[in-house]
Amino acid sequence: MFQTIPQAIGLDVSDNSVKMALLKRKGRGLGLESFVSASLPSGLVHNGEITDSEKLATHIRQALEKTDGKKIKTKYVISSLPEEKSFVRVIPLPPMSSSEINQTLQWEIEAHIPLKYSEIFLAWQPIAKYQKTSKNIYILAAAAPQILATKYLQTLDAAGLIPLGLEIESVSIVRALMEKNKVHAPTPILDFGLNRTLFLLYSGKSLCFSASIPLGSRHLTQAISEKMSLDLTTAENLKIKVGLDSKKGKRVLQSCQPILDQIIVEAQKYIGFFKHQCPLDYTPSPNIERILLSGGGSQLFGLAKYLSVGLKTPVELANPWVNILKPPLKSVPKLSFNDSLGFSTCLGLALAALENTI
Ligand SMILES: Nc1ncnc2c1ncn2[C@@H]1O[C@H](COP(=O)(O)OP(=O)(O)OP(=O)(O)O)[C@@H](O)[C@H]1O
Ligand SMILES: [Mg+2]
Repeated sequence: MFQTIPQAIGLDVSDNSVKMALLKRKGRGLGLESFVSASLPSGLVHNGEITDSEKLATHIRQALEKTDGKKIKTKYVISSLPEEKSFVRVIPLPPMSSSEINQTLQWEIEAHIPLKYSEIFLAWQPIAKYQKTSKNIYILAAAAPQILATKYLQTLDAAGLIPLGLEIESVSIVRALMEKNKVHAPTPILDFGLNRTLFLLYSGKSLCFSASIPLGSRHLTQAISEKMSLDLTTAENLKIKVGLDSKKGKRVLQSCQPILDQIIVEAQKYIGFFKHQCPLDYTPSPNIERILLSGGGSQLFGLAKYLSVGLKTPVELANPWVNILKPPLKSVPKLSFNDSLGFSTCLGLALAALENTI
């Protein structure tokens, strides 16, 4: 009669790392029970696709033995699916029933991704309307290739874990970063990771758009290494030490600029698309007042300021604790605020596990 939802780990798989987090209920709030980030050798995951299931499973098992905080006992897990292989969009449709929506989405999605309807997992939900410029309804559709998801399920099984669900990365990120039960003005989010930058747009109470820009923090290191004739380790250290501070090192800034400017151009393109192409029915206001920045790479000194100037909009570091800790706390002792910026996906998945929202 009473269903107990098992405690479950949030697992974020990237090409070069696995990150896990486990949340617990603490009084009337939440707390972080355990977390771990472990790097992966190359050749196990490529652009989000698992290429060596057995070895990845071994690394996940080993990472579970090295957690900070309490030892993880639960076998239940919710894992991320890579954005670059998935599809998340708001699709406007004329008013219709649920079964008609299912049928119509089939054509809409086949038009957008090179897969047949029978080859994808699809989830959708209607999103709230704030204005009524048309009679349309708006559906947030999320789809991922079955073959990709099956590989994730097989790997989790090989790691001795029991998957409760899989979730596209952007959905987990916004769950962590956007304050719950609040109607938000349209807010772009840039998640600056190692390999890629995700551009997400959140509006009202829903994710509305996602795109993956194939440039990340790794490309900054490569550019520093090439332009300053340094090996990759020295370039990485210099990037972390100097950042975009021209007083400390003008050549680091100059090396990073072409990549950051390309990301700015891409982000501007998506913001322009949102402003000019999307009906404003599902946004509470048309104006973008701020842009949020997350991902491990967002710790780069001066990045938020650089992007603010380029995008002509204030860029702020996001707070992945906004739905976990009570203000003014912004981190838990062992996981600093800066480090937690790379844990957004993972914390969003761990929240899904607690809230049973998957
Ligand atoms: N203090 C710092 N200053 C600058 N960059 C940093 C700092 N700390 C970490 N980084 C960068 O963050 C990057 C890792 O980011 P993140 O953990 O989000 O990547 P990931 O999740 O493994 O990869 P992805 O999501 O792109 O597949 C590394 O390139 C690292 O250089
Ligand atoms: Mg990541």
